[in-house]
Amino acid sequence: MAKLVFPSDFVWGTATASYQIEGAVREGGRGPSIWDTFSHTPGKVANNDNGDVACDSYHRYEEDVALLKKLGVNAYRFSIAWPRIFPKGTGQVNPEGLDYYHRVLDALIASGIEPCVTLYHWDLPQALQDKGGWANRETIDAFVNYAETVFKAFDGKVKQWITFNETWCVSFLSNYLGVHAPGYTDLGLAVKVAHHCLVAHGEAVKKFRALGIRGEIGTTHNLNWIEPYSTRKEDVEAARRMRAWNNEWFMEPTFKGTYPAFMVDWFRAKGAEIPIRAGDMETIAQPIDFIGVNYYSGGFGRYKQGAGLFDGEEVQIGFDKTFMDWNVYPDGLYKVLSWVREEYGDTPIYITENGACYEDELTEDKRVHDAKRIDYFRKHFIQCHRLIESGVPLKGYFAWSLLDNFEWAEGYRKRFGIVYTDYNTLERHPKDSYYFIRDVIASGGLEV
Ligand code: FCB
Repeated sequence: MAKLVFPSDFVWGTATASYQIEGAVREGGRGPSIWDTFSHTPGKVANNDNGDVACDSYHRYEEDVALLKKLGVNAYRFSIAWPRIFPKGTGQVNPEGLDYYHRVLDALIASGIEPCVTLYHWDLPQALQDKGGWANRETIDAFVNYAETVFKAFDGKVKQWITFNETWCVSFLSNYLGVHAPGYTDLGLAVKVAHHCLVAHGEAVKKFRALGIRGEIGTTHNLNWIEPYSTRKEDVEAARRMRAWNNEWFMEPTFKGTYPAFMVDWFRAKGAEIPIRAGDMETIAQPIDFIGVNYYSGGFGRYKQGAGLFDGEEVQIGFDKTFMDWNVYPDGLYKVLSWVREEYGDTPIYITENGACYEDELTEDKRVHDAKRIDYFRKHFIQCHRLIESGVPLKGYFAWSLLDNFEWAEGYRKRFGIVYTDYNTLERHPKDSYYFIRDVIASGGLEV
């Protein structure tokens, strides 16, 4: 046995998001979000599940914080529900919403856990969607106003701020693939939404600097790693497009203030134009303190005329799969973060989500023996260690997720937690993977 030792200042955490865990959607003055509307529309979410109750973390956050403390993490990533702060998106601030997050932040700080706060993890106030949502440039101003309000309210309590979670999901998954709220299938709309979210990110960073808020600010992109199945030129090009959809399309503007030209041409040929205004690209490329990366999977792609958006298809090469049917591809994590460093330099990187969904069974003595999830974490931790050894500035890792929760369009049937949520009683039961991670943190590394 050998031990892979992590740096003593490595940040270990877990992550959640407001709509996925809070419940209490009609309490504390919260207004409706696009996810309330979407999940209450029959047929949009598996089993017609919704986030009305979720894990009830609105009432049980103290229990969640106690679980974090016992886990031994030094950080926790969660998101603020914009409609708790501004029930209608703009206008009157709701003090009860601010109070709730003050309580959460205070409980974390009292337990020695650094808060990492995401401003936008998908619960757009419905009132803003009624005026066009992210397709309307005024939503950028509403976002900056919301950001300013929470920056000022929580200044000094939050170590890390993340403007957006997964702009690809906010734009393409939600407005082109139609899988997430608001559920449109319009490529031009998706490209516009992506651009406006990127500008909103940049404007929020500017505001953060202008106000002199303490802590660090960055954004989180969901990157994947798709390799060409063969060295044939058309396979290489198709895989490159498939990969760039998640990766370059968001990373280039964030770091370089440009969009990848080959992708701009590709989208233009399909009738989708980016509505860039003077100054937008400079705004987007505001220097950030760190980049958050969510990584779950990757795979192999090849050319197939007419397939998908990019004349490309995924090739199955026998990967183990999670219960989401996602390939288990730990090497992809190593490759994609090595690429991030090469392309975009030495900005500190945090893995702001990584984890796996498997079918879990609660035993009579309330245990969950999730050996496959442990294996998934173990393999990805090893790649993290390789990255650090390679000099990639990987500073922290947040496991998705602390708890089983409302998994968006998949509802409650897809469990990602290291703690099992019993949806009948709302009791939380740590799984074996929770104890595995606890031991990794406590011992400063892992035995391999
Ligand atoms: C990510 C989301 C997160 C969770 C995981 C499984 O795309 O950011 O909320 O649903 O996937």
